[in-house]
Amino acid sequence: MRRINSVSMPLKGEIVVDADKSISHRAVIFSALAQGKSVIKNFLPASDTLSSCSCLRQLGIKIATRDSEMQVYGRGLSGFSEPHMVLDCGNSGTTMRLMAGLLSAQPFLTILNGDESLNQRPMKRIIEPLGVMGANIQARQNGNYPPLVIRGSRLSGLSYQLPVASAQVKSALMLAALKADSETLLSEPQKSRDHSERMLTAMGADIAINGQEIKIKPGKELQAAEFLVPGDISSAAFFMVAASIIPGSELLIRNVGVNPSRAGIIEILNKMGARIKLENERTISGEPVADLIVSYSRLQAIDIDGAVIPRLIDEIPILAVAMALAEGESTVRGAAELRVKETDRIAAISTELAKMGADIREQPDGFVIKGKPDSLQGARVSSQGDHRIAMSLAVAGLAAKGESMIEDSEVVNISFPRFWDLLNTISS
Ligand code: S3P
Repeated sequence: MRRINSVSMPLKGEIVVDADKSISHRAVIFSALAQGKSVIKNFLPASDTLSSCSCLRQLGIKIATRDSEMQVYGRGLSGFSEPHMVLDCGNSGTTMRLMAGLLSAQPFLTILNGDESLNQRPMKRIIEPLGVMGANIQARQNGNYPPLVIRGSRLSGLSYQLPVASAQVKSALMLAALKADSETLLSEPQKSRDHSERMLTAMGADIAINGQEIKIKPGKELQAAEFLVPGDISSAAFFMVAASIIPGSELLIRNVGVNPSRAGIIEILNKMGARIKLENERTISGEPVADLIVSYSRLQAIDIDGAVIPRLIDEIPILAVAMALAEGESTVRGAAELRVKETDRIAAISTELAKMGADIREQPDGFVIKGKPDSLQGARVSSQGDHRIAMSLAVAGLAAKGESMIEDSEVVNISFPRFWDLLNTISS
């Protein structure tokens, strides 16, 4: 439980948010598949990414940590060994889906289990296309929900149009494709985050990208690499919104990943009238990175839909907070995917923000919010066990009148262990 008081002073200062979760997962998984020692600097030590590490260790991969550096001793595309135990993916959808792709092509049996939330998340989206490649995966409830039982087999390549834009599905299929016996062609309806494509290209995979199409030729071993993981834009988003809604604030957020397939939040907040400037733009380990200067500004309502949705899918709960405090009616459409995240995020953010006085109406694929500056009241709210809901409510609490209590607040450890400390630093 956390108590959040309305802030009376502007938020000021300079922060560095925790490392990118998506890039950390991929860096450790792809390093395990490469030949020889890879080094990962600034790996995110959060529950989700540690789930990926523990699964890989049980598959025989040595992972050592020294100072802030992680060394991964990759054993090539065929170097894993059969685990003695069920692999625990915890709360992490990325761990389960990427590992399922990788393990479909390994010649042994694995069982992937998750926590209560993960075991209710849909897996048919990976099991079906992997099945067409020849994978043998059994799952609960007619092949849809974890645990997954995977009996590794020979795979053939696949030509597949993803029905929804999903980087987890895309990456699972790319991992399976690396060991298939023919070429794989994937295409997405809209572009989702492309960290896997960038990393596999840099590690020497035979991969060609053409817009939303990816072609992978199998059989080429990956080269070990050195990675420096940037700050997570999905974590920075909580501070971007906090500084945008608290009068007089100015924050410098250093070292944030601004990959265009993730940066929809900056574009949309700026369209709402926010003042977010990118400085010191550079490329680190194949990913665009910048320092962000965010200053307070009065926000206006906005409607969002279409191709921007996958580019800010994880930021929609915190965007709802910005919309609740903006002038006018905002809508989010085309975001039904939010219903199958760590919790049903459309229902969770609508219920919890309504407790703080927001005028928010759920829709099947989004919500409508009638926003107004100063409209939120402190309240007792719940994260509903979802890290991004907890952090969104904390930011709402800073701008609300009076005191708020956030139940189940320790869930921030899933993606952003330093969140509460950073929030304290800038608001006290
Ligand atoms: C992720 C992809 C997204 C995102 C999740 C992380 C990834 O999920 O919501 O937090 O690292 O690939 P989907 O692929 O299901 O859209």
